[in-house]
Amino acid sequence: MIYRLPQIKDEKLINDYIQEHYEQGEKSISASYGLTSSEYKQWVAKINRNAAEGDERFGKSLLLLCFDNKRLIGLLSIRYELPPELSWTIGDIGYGVRPSERNKGYATAMLKHALDVCREKGLTKVILGCFRDNIASAKTIIKNGGVLVCENDNYQKGRISQYYVITL
Ligand SMILES: CC(C)(COP(=O)(O)OP(=O)(O)OC[C@H]1O[C@@H](n2cnc3c(N)ncnc32)[C@H](O)[C@@H]1OP(=O)(O)O)[C@@H](O)C(=O)NCCC(=O)NCCS
Repeated sequence: MIYRLPQIKDEKLINDYIQEHYEQGEKSISASYGLTSSEYKQWVAKINRNAAEGDERFGKSLLLLCFDNKRLIGLLSIRYELPPELSWTIGDIGYGVRPSERNKGYATAMLKHALDVCREKGLTKVILGCFRDNIASAKTIIKNGGVLVCENDNYQKGRISQYYVITL
């Protein structure tokens, strides 16, 4: 797979990606960092700024487009400088795969790539969160070495999230 930051020229393929989610009845785009609520050019600028300089609250982070054979498969968010209280709420890594490409092993490969990046950045462990009812995400994490350490509803009241640690 090819992983890279979004560019202005990607607007059409990102719009197709969003549209596919909507057509499948999904209202939000995982790991997109405000994509659908921002003007596209401003979103690209923000993502590239976050990678180069970071953000006051989140530190430096990467939001990568994940391609297989030129097809945009998913989005991968790697927040490798989060303060601990945010790691234990939103998690250090987030991902989403377009509906037509799910259950083909892509999220498992994307998370593996994120772990390689975090290792290169010098991290020795990462924290991942997912809702307890998100079986596919939990399996993705466990397949990459995740160990369940706690469950709570701090992220969204009334809905249980699970938090996993992966030692790098
Ligand atoms: C969660 C998500 C990223 C998984 O992506 P994916 O590419 O389908 O995952 P993979 O193909 O790598 O599969 C990982 C594991 O989940 C299982 N799985 C995939 N879809 C599943 C489903 N709908 N129900 C149960 N298990 C599922 C796979 O079988 C695999 O486990 P196995 O190897 O033990 O069989 C994808 O479903 C998605 O984008 N969902 C919406 C966004 C989201 O929930 N993001 C994560 C937020 S924490």
